Amino acid sequence: MSSAEQWLPATWRRLTAAVTMLLHLVSAQTSDSLTLVNVLYHHGDRSPLRAYPTDPYQEKAWAHGFSQLTEVGVQQQYDLGVFLRNRYQHFLNKSYHVHELYVRSLDTDPALSSAYCVLAGLFPRTDGHTGGVTWQPVPVHTTASQQDHLLASPDPWCDVTDDVDEIDQRHQLLENYRELLQTLRNYTGLTEDGIAMVDIMADTLFCEEQHNMTLATWAKDALSLLRHKVLPEMISRRYRSTAQRRQAAGALLLKIIQDMSLSASGQLDGTKMFMYSAHDTNVMALLASMNLFDGRPVPYSTAVLVELHTLNHTHHVNVWLRNASRDGLHQLTLPGCDVDCPLSQFIELTKDTALPGATACSIFNLFPLRQLAIVLAISLSTGFTTLLCLFAVTSCCCPRRRLLPPKRYRKMFSEVVPEQVPMIGSSLGSDCDD
Ligand SMILES: *[C@@H]1O[C@H](CO)[C@@H](O)[C@H](O)[C@H]1NC(C)=O
Ligand SMILES: *[C@@H]1O[C@H](CO)[C@@H](O)[C@H](O)[C@H]1NC(C)=O
Ligand SMILES: *[C@@H]1O[C@H](CO)[C@@H](O)[C@H](O)[C@H]1NC(C)=O
Ligand SMILES: *[C@@H]1O[C@H](CO)[C@@H](O)[C@H](O)[C@H]1NC(C)=O
Ligand SMILES: *[C@@H]1O[C@H](CO)[C@@H](O)[C@H](O)[C@H]1NC(C)=O
Repeated sequence: MSSAEQWLPATWRRLTAAVTMLLHLVSAQTSDSLTLVNVLYHHGDRSPLRAYPTDPYQEKAWAHGFSQLTEVGVQQQYDLGVFLRNRYQHFLNKSYHVHELYVRSLDTDPALSSAYCVLAGLFPRTDGHTGGVTWQPVPVHTTASQQDHLLASPDPWCDVTDDVDEIDQRHQLLENYRELLQTLRNYTGLTEDGIAMVDIMADTLFCEEQHNMTLATWAKDALSLLRHKVLPEMISRRYRSTAQRRQAAGALLLKIIQDMSLSASGQLDGTKMFMYSAHDTNVMALLASMNLFDGRPVPYSTAVLVELHTLNHTHHVNVWLRNASRDGLHQLTLPGCDVDCPLSQFIELTKDTALPGATACSIFNLFPLRQLAIVLAISLSTGFTTLLCLFAVTSCCCPRRRLLPPKRYRKMFSEVVPEQVPMIGSSLGSDCDD
């Protein structure tokens, strides 16, 4: 084979890929075939959840306090909204219409604030009568985290990370980082155990570094180890099994599939976009549930777009990842499917993960053994006591023959009950005839 022959197909492939990509972008922009969009995104840059006891940057160091979107985050989310407006300008009306869009957020401050910022970018006020208000108010729906079986990840009904084996394995993983944990305990004044320590310190130090706050040498070293070794290892364990993936994003994927199916059959009452405002764990989990997660932490403001297109009465799904504001848009292909994945095939490929999290659990996960034992003990003892009292009351206070209704009532009951059944049926029948 000559080098020219090897060179040609590669170039040809690249050229056709580029043309296909261009066509996709054009088709999405002209929206001829676009039928429904599902958007899930990670909130923008935020302040840490807390500081450690010896931290020079306590809550006052953060303009809005802990766990809040920062000015950087506000801008990132607004930019995401502008991006969505540009991409879907011929699809979504410029003014907000209740039937076109439904927004759902996790019940956390950064997720809620992020939703408002995205919507401000997506629906700027265009009618000229702003009176100082430069955005259109759009409702954002939410559900208390403990009852959120759509976005809380993992599902609060059942957490396979509570699984004893899983916890053992995570503790084992942390055995390799004993020295790091020891250093952290020494310098931070925290007394938390391994996993909690990793969660706190990875978050706090990362937020401080993002905001150019000066970190001590031990903190810089710890952050580097946490971000580049410990967290990736922990994340890679999170979505290994089908049960884990189902539990992390199954309910959301199922909702997306159900909405796409309804839209494809024209039963969706005009909804064009479902928007979900959430955390990086949700984005990673949704990607994992579609077999598309590459194991890397996702940056702030990362959005996954799951688009349903209709061409010539057939429906296909496109998945896009916008993982950094300046890094453009990446089209993802479900393993085992085309870039334009037929809806039926998309459903078939995700059928093991697109299930509510609770179905991944045995009854013992739903009700941990200890709770089950307590509930059983309480109900048994209550039942037994009630029975005992009833028996005591009836045998002591009531004369034996009074336990049954007098004879004439017994007769009435036995006559009335069988006659009522045909009466209902016949009256319905006559109504229908009229
Ligand atoms: C957008 O909504 C306005 C009413 O707010 C309506 O007059 C207009 O026709 C709509 N545009 C499209 C393209 O549906
Ligand atoms: C513990 O912290 C002190 C300062 O607070 C430092 O001098 C010492 O080297 C640290 N020890 C270890 C084992 O990290
Ligand atoms: C931190 O510093 C970098 C580089 O100077 C800058 O681009 C960035 O905006 C700063 N971040 C914040 C939150 O001020
Ligand atoms: C649309 O579908 C029909 C029947 O399935 C087929 O004959 C026709 O060629 C298709 N048109 C396009 C543009 O794909
Ligand atoms: C975004 O995702 C694409 C595709 O997975 C990847 O090639 C790219 O490096 C990612 N960028 C960032 C900043 O994570």
